[in-house]
Amino acid sequence: MSDTFLVTGASKGLGRSIAMSLANSGKSVIALARNSSELDTLNESLKQISSNSQIIACDLASKEDISKAVGKIIGEFKHLSGIVHNAGTISPIENMLDVSRDNWERAVNVNLIGVQDLTRSLDSIIGGESHTRVVTISSGAAKRPLHGWSSYCVSKAGLDMWTRCLAEEGESENISALAIAPGIVDTGMQKEIRQADESSFPLLQNFIEYHKNGELTNPDDVAQKLLPYVTGDLGQNGDILDVRNL
Ligand SMILES: NC(=O)c1ccc[n+]([C@@H]2O[C@H](COP(=O)([O-])OP(=O)(O)OC[C@H]3O[C@@H](n4cnc5c(N)ncnc54)[C@H](OP(=O)(O)O)[C@@H]3O)[C@@H](O)[C@H]2O)c1
Repeated sequence: MSDTFLVTGASKGLGRSIAMSLANSGKSVIALARNSSELDTLNESLKQISSNSQIIACDLASKEDISKAVGKIIGEFKHLSGIVHNAGTISPIENMLDVSRDNWERAVNVNLIGVQDLTRSLDSIIGGESHTRVVTISSGAAKRPLHGWSSYCVSKAGLDMWTRCLAEEGESENISALAIAPGIVDTGMQKEIRQADESSFPLLQNFIEYHKNGELTNPDDVAQKLLPYVTGDLGQNGDILDVRNL
């Protein structure tokens, strides 16, 4: 069987492009996202290129879903050459003193806690005799606060440090980890940002302008740039990178 890569948030946007570029380069892909027609159409596209590839429906905010997904993966695959923790949510975009505990918690669960849970649960099929590269998709929001994005900023900052912790502990386990911020990419997440309420997101007009001025990058182009970092051909253990500097 060819090298296998798990890609989260693969149903659309950047994750879909990463999943397809891996499959097009001869890798098997386990594509994870919540159940949707987009995930089903991805399955059809993947199967045409790579018969070992498959989709897994899983809500990363749910520990039961993660446990079921891991059971399925471990039952079918002996080793993962890589994991791309790409799934992410920008929601809720809301002032931090107004946002509900449940909504804030859900975002941190998807963006951060699910990453830790999924990775540690896959322990038996990562690293060891063969190397595993773990890539997390970071954001400029990991480095600076943006008004209205507190759950996203906090979880992305945490994700960068999570990646560095895994780099530290994974070295002796034949696991390398790095984080890459993808720049401003033309995906559903950017659309959601442009639909935010200006009273909780004062930078709204800037993001509308980025889009108007054609400053957003194409997810397929970004995925192509990320590919050698995902496969482990480029990048050092513990790197925190930005695609705009690669
Ligand atoms: N677009 C940008 O400009 C930008 C900038 C910096 C960083 N990023 C990061 O890039 C990554 C990809 O984002 P994108 O722009 O491609 O966004 P997107 O188009 O909104 O896609 C997000 C992906 O995450 C999945 N996802 C969301 N909630 C999930 C959940 N609870 N369980 C499982 N999967 C879930 C979605 O799948 P379902 O909804 O189908 O479950 C989808 O496949 C994210 O980590 C994001 O933070 C994006």
